[in-house]
Amino acid sequence: MTERRKLMRVLEGETVFPPPVWLMRQAGRYLPEYRETRAKAGGFLELCYDPDFATEVTLQPIRRFGFDAAILFSDILVIPDALDRGLHFVAGEGPKLTPLREDEVASLDPSRAETHLAPVIATVARLREELPEETTLIGFCGAPFTVATYMIAGHGTPDQAPARLFGYRHPEAMEKLLYLLAEMSADYLIRQLTAGADCVQIFDSWAGVLDEACFEAYAIGPVRRMVEKIRAARPDAKIIGFAKGAGAFLSTYREKTGVDAVGLDWQMPMDFARSIQTGGAVQGNLDPLRLIAGGRALDEGVDRILEHLGGGSLIFNLGHGITPDAPIEHVEALLKRIRG
Ligand code: CP3
Repeated sequence: MTERRKLMRVLEGETVFPPPVWLMRQAGRYLPEYRETRAKAGGFLELCYDPDFATEVTLQPIRRFGFDAAILFSDILVIPDALDRGLHFVAGEGPKLTPLREDEVASLDPSRAETHLAPVIATVARLREELPEETTLIGFCGAPFTVATYMIAGHGTPDQAPARLFGYRHPEAMEKLLYLLAEMSADYLIRQLTAGADCVQIFDSWAGVLDEACFEAYAIGPVRRMVEKIRAARPDAKIIGFAKGAGAFLSTYREKTGVDAVGLDWQMPMDFARSIQTGGAVQGNLDPLRLIAGGRALDEGVDRILEHLGGGSLIFNLGHGITPDAPIEHVEALLKRIRG
């Protein structure tokens, strides 16, 4: 490879225009070819743990749209699955797990993880072989707090009250849980990088529910530990941190955690986003609903991001994942608008 991949150049601090673009959840139900492969696989987890199927669905949005990056197809909940927490997906309801009690934290056993996650690592290696040379491969995992919210409640909740109450009532167990997840997740990302991922993203989708003290304890500390552990093994690793809803806490997120790039949700004011961009790359932040609406709402949203952030290190993305009702023509229009 003579020329560096575009997205990697941005992570190294370059300004690339038009910016590299990919979409969170770009492999998914809005694509008919995804629905077809998922039906063949029989279920979502079957898709995640089968390197043939997982490679296929990762490549689908690259073939169709030519995004600058592919994200490994998997889920953040494979880590609690490796801890044997009874993960299953109920159609129309999302993930279910066995709710974790405080007195169970000490006996969580990470020793199965290496074997359990081997098919995902095999998928990463396959992807690097099959992707076009110019396409960046992004590995990922959930941040410890976001993964813990699903483990504690046993399902998704709108405000993560069960996890927050768990933290207030059992601070030692919460700390133990978050740092166990940090160690496992760092090992998992190191394996992804070694297998061929160019960079990795840490999804903290629920960081926005935390008060200041809890943000420090749950969303900064464990992520910083992950970054330190990853860099000890892979000093050149490039890491994107996406702490959704974190608002003003993002002003120091990069320096406190050590991530290279900061993901921005759609509520971030542009002036604030630019101040974060003075410290390095940012990624985001189109409202996924603008993609559903299309037309003027989409064009104006894209233009505003390019105008305010396009003069610096930017990875164009949504402010959260693409939804199943996103029209394919609108994704095409988005790419056309960005790339001119
Ligand atoms: O971005 C990609 O294309 C890569 C794949 C990916 C998935 N999940 C596939 C998926 C990634 C990066 C994730 C991350 C993930 N998973 C997060 C963090 C990002 C975010 O969106 O906030 C979270 C919180 C999860 C947990 C999870 N997985 C939930 C809550 C659900 C159900 C919600 C839903 O949309 O149904 C999933 C299932 C899931 N993960 C699907 C996909 C494509 C849908 C499963 C299906 O095919 O039915």
